[in-house]
Amino acid sequence: MGELAGRTVLVTGAGRGIGRAEALYLADAGANVVVNDPGVEIDGRGGDGGIAAAVVDEIRARGGRAVADTGSVADWAAARGMVDRAVAEFGDLHAVVNNATIEVNKGLERLTEAEFDDVVAVKLKGTFAVSHWAAVYWRGQERADRAIVNTASGSGLLNPLPTQTNYAAANAGVAAMTTVHALELRRLGVRVNCVSPSMVRTRLTNPVPGMDQAPPDGQLDPKDPAVVAPLVAYLVSEGCPLTGQVLSVRGGSIAVNHGWARGAQVTKDGALWTVAELAESLAAQPLEDPFDRLATALGGALGVQGRDAFEAMVNAELDKD
Ligand SMILES: NC(=O)c1ccc[n+]([C@@H]2O[C@H](COP(=O)([O-])OP(=O)(O)OC[C@H]3O[C@@H](n4cnc5c(N)ncnc54)[C@H](O)[C@@H]3O)[C@@H](O)[C@H]2O)c1
Repeated sequence: MGELAGRTVLVTGAGRGIGRAEALYLADAGANVVVNDPGVEIDGRGGDGGIAAAVVDEIRARGGRAVADTGSVADWAAARGMVDRAVAEFGDLHAVVNNATIEVNKGLERLTEAEFDDVVAVKLKGTFAVSHWAAVYWRGQERADRAIVNTASGSGLLNPLPTQTNYAAANAGVAAMTTVHALELRRLGVRVNCVSPSMVRTRLTNPVPGMDQAPPDGQLDPKDPAVVAPLVAYLVSEGCPLTGQVLSVRGGSIAVNHGWARGAQVTKDGALWTVAELAESLAAQPLEDPFDRLATALGGALGVQGRDAFEAMVNAELDKD
């Protein structure tokens, strides 16, 4: 018997990449899995029902239990339908893994209203929609060990990426929603955590230099989509004590994040600050340039030597017509 035997888990965006690896791992561990994925292009266009069905076939061929769902997480009724499908097919729903995303990367001046809305609709509203319907279902149940695992990105948490207004904002929102839902759903016996993968080889990261490099056969590949799956399995498992946590995963390293942390502070009592006083005291504080953070996190990993060279590369991308 696998450690997740008897638990039913809905994984969104499970047709490819990290979600697919999570679905396979969860099913191997004994879970019944709802494999949700409409099989869209990276930017959300199109759709292919065969993408989710292929993962279900793979799970069944390995002796596991799974059912496909091709609804969009951004569609309110379809989100409800995924929860209903889990219950109809397997009799219950124990956990939701909100993993689905699309990406449209452009600098602020080129990004359209629709491109902003589309990414936020899948990543942020989709996480809300599926979590909402799961919580509605759980509210009517015996209070027991239930879980939500959201998925965020370093772009939005630790190193917001230029060209990702929509994606970074949505991912930061997912992390914020995680802590709100952890507090709200505690009373229903539901734990809510968030994983934040990094440098995992999927179609989203294909263009990143060096992503195609893998160690020799037989050695663990730190960029394999499967690196996130054991953590997700732990977070949905019965008796896991974690809730309200946002955990970054890169290869075999898992970091517990502390979110926005209060930094230097200036205080004036008894009267409003003047602009001149602020110019003197606030500007004298140790302020962080977010680009330094980005360059430290990604510049070396992308093979670009030096902060200035990295900034020139980023600006060239932003200046495209
Ligand atoms: N790959 C990385 O290194 C990395 C880094 C940070 C965060 N992430 C996060 O990991 C998650 C998975 O990303 P991935 O790299 O595996 O991407 P991916 O493109 O390989 O997989 C995403 C899947 O989501 C599906 N999807 C898109 N719109 C959907 C919708 N409306 N409803 C349901 N499913 C939908 C797609 O069809 C696709 O199969 C995402 O949340 C992403 O933000 C990935």
